[in-house]
Parts: sequence; C-alpha cells; structure tokens
Amino acid sequence: MKIAVTGACGYIGSHTLVDLIQHGFEVISIDNNSRSTPEILEGVTAITGKIVPHYPIDMCQLDDLEQVFVQNPNIVGVIHFAAYKWVGESVDKPLLYYHNNLQALLNLLKCIQKFDIPYHVFSSSCSVYGNPDALPVTEETPLALAESPYAMTKQIGERIISDFSRLGVNANVLLRYFNPVGAHPSAKIGEIQPIPQNLVPFITQTAIGLRPALSVFGNDYDTRDGTCLRDYIHVSDIAHAHTLALQHLVKHQIQRNYCEVFNLGSGEGATVLEVIAAFERATGEKLAYQIVDRRAGDVAKIYANRHKATHVLGWQPQYKLDDMMRTAWQWQLRLQEHPIDFPVIG
Ligand code: WQD
Repeated sequence: MKIAVTGACGYIGSHTLVDLIQHGFEVISIDNNSRSTPEILEGVTAITGKIVPHYPIDMCQLDDLEQVFVQNPNIVGVIHFAAYKWVGESVDKPLLYYHNNLQALLNLLKCIQKFDIPYHVFSSSCSVYGNPDALPVTEETPLALAESPYAMTKQIGERIISDFSRLGVNANVLLRYFNPVGAHPSAKIGEIQPIPQNLVPFITQTAIGLRPALSVFGNDYDTRDGTCLRDYIHVSDIAHAHTLALQHLVKHQIQRNYCEVFNLGSGEGATVLEVIAAFERATGEKLAYQIVDRRAGDVAKIYANRHKATHVLGWQPQYKLDDMMRTAWQWQLRLQEHPIDFPVIG
C-alpha cells in the first residue's frame, strides 16, 4: 500500500518513513524543506535500503500538491506532519503559523476529497490540552484555550478534520504527541535543531560543548523537585504508532466518517531535573546547568493516559527515559562527525 507522508524530512516524519517501510508500506515524501533537509532521506535509505521518492513542493500551493496525487494515483493514505511547530516563534509570527499550518491542511483535505483517498493520520499535540486541571490527561479531557498560536493551529486543525469527516469522504485518526525525544537507535536519523527550541537538543548541544550550560526554566513549580513535569516519549515509539493507526484503519476497513483521537505519551511524567539525571546516567556525561526564571507559557505538569492507544491500536512504547537520552546523545555525536546542512530560518 502506498502512503504519502507530508513533512517526511522532519524529525517524526523521517522516523515514521522508516517504520512504515519496515512494515511493508510503500512511501513518498512531500516536504518543501523550509524547516528540514532532503539529506535526512539518505539516512532513511541507509536504514531501510529503500529510496523514498521526494516531492519538494509547498502544500500551500494547491496546484503543486494536486500534481503529486495525479502522478501517484494509487495512494491510499496520507500522514500529515507538515507544519511549523515552535511555540515561541508562533507567538512572534502568528500569521505565518496560521497561514502555513492551516492552508496546508485545507489543501490536503481538498486533495483527499478530489482523489478519493480513504485514510488520513494527522499530527496533533498535547498542547491542545493547555494547562490541564486533572492528570493524567485522557482523550476526553476538555481542551483548554490554547496557550500559543501554534497550539491553536492544532486545535483548529482537529476541528476542521472533525467537520470534514462528517462528509463521509474518508477516515481520520488524530494523534496527540506529548514530548517526542531521542533518535533512531542506528543514529542515522534524528532531530536537527541548529538553534535548539526544546529541552533535549539543548541538553545534547550543551553536553557536546556547543552551548555553555543548560538553563532550567524555574524550580518553584508544584512538582516533586520544583521543575516542570512532562511526558517524554521516544520518537521511534511515536513513529510506530502511525503505522499502527494506518493498519487499524485498513484492517478494519473503517467506515468513512470515522474521526478518532489518541494520546501518544509514555504515561509516565519526568521533571527537567530527572531528565538531566537520566542523561548523565545513560551517557556518563556531566551536564552543566543553572536554574533561571520560569519560561512564559510553560505548563507546570502534564502527562498522558495512553490506555486508548494501547487497547485500540495495540501500541506498546518500547523505549525508557534512559534509552531516549542515550539515542539522543548518539545522534548528537554523529552530527558532530557528519554535520548536515540545514536551511537558515528567515
Ligand atoms: C520541556 C520542558 C521547559 C528548554 C513543546 C511543544 C509541544 C510539543 C513538545 C509538538 C519544559 C523545560 C526547555 C530549556 C528548560 N511539540 N526547558 N530549558 O514546551 O513541553 O512542549 O514540545 O507537538 O507542543 O509545546 O517542550 O522541550 O520546550 O520543554 O528548562 O532550555 O523543559 O520549561 O518544562 P514543551 P520543551
């Protein structure tokens, strides 16, 4: 079965290509490489032995996107990752985020309707829950007002897909990621953040000497050690959940007005200091860090109830926090030896 993966050159996209190929799917990549590099597909090929056809088009250009589906008439599913995802940037550039993330989705849904593509898996985020009152978070936890334009594009995206699914045109699965971290155990693919936006790239770039010290954003939260608590989940476990979601749709010949949400988290919370301790334990590296003020918009604590993904999709995360830290470090070491060019973000 042939699957189109948008944003396939990105962090989760590239790991999902590997998992799909290893589970017998044929894949194509659709990515304008504004925040990624097609070079990452060489790593996918090194792992799987398969060349991935790449379409470097902007999904906001409907004609260009339609041409991909004209040239690939036997696509049965789409996994849609292509979106900007940096919370801080979305606050500074809301129009960029609303245009890019929503126009791309709208154009994709138009193609799904025009080319009669039955299955769609959408990349959503735990940030749709905002600052939850009750933990762990389930799929029934009410969505709070999104804390950033990025999170709002995910909330609006989910609503667009929910309304679209009522047309009976296709079947949709929405996957709400918690905090994806780590890298493929081969260290041939991983996350590329020249200017880190998230905790773990900051940790590995500090440990390798690219940054003087990690700043820990606050230690006066209501958690077991005062630092924020998150649900970290290995990117390869996240990737496999996409394969399981597609298999779920195909195996059960899901009816065409289906729209289901699944949390993708480990179900275990870890504080920033616990992540640092796991990194030092897993790598033997000592990490320089300092406690600084809180970061605006940070949620104190959030972690998932993953019961639904486990029981409906059969999803069983394999990697523990130490594995996440070890694989993230191995990827950072590889980047040091084999730097990958990355587009300058305007
Ligand atoms: C994690 C923790 C920081 C950097 C974001 C998106 C979310 C999802 C995951 C896409 C927080 C602390 C961080 C640093 C620190 N993305 N931290 N020093 O903000 O939980 O979630 O990524 O789906 O939508 O919002 O991730 O990695 O930025 O922060 O202390 O230098 O690490 O305060 O508690 P976040 P993060």
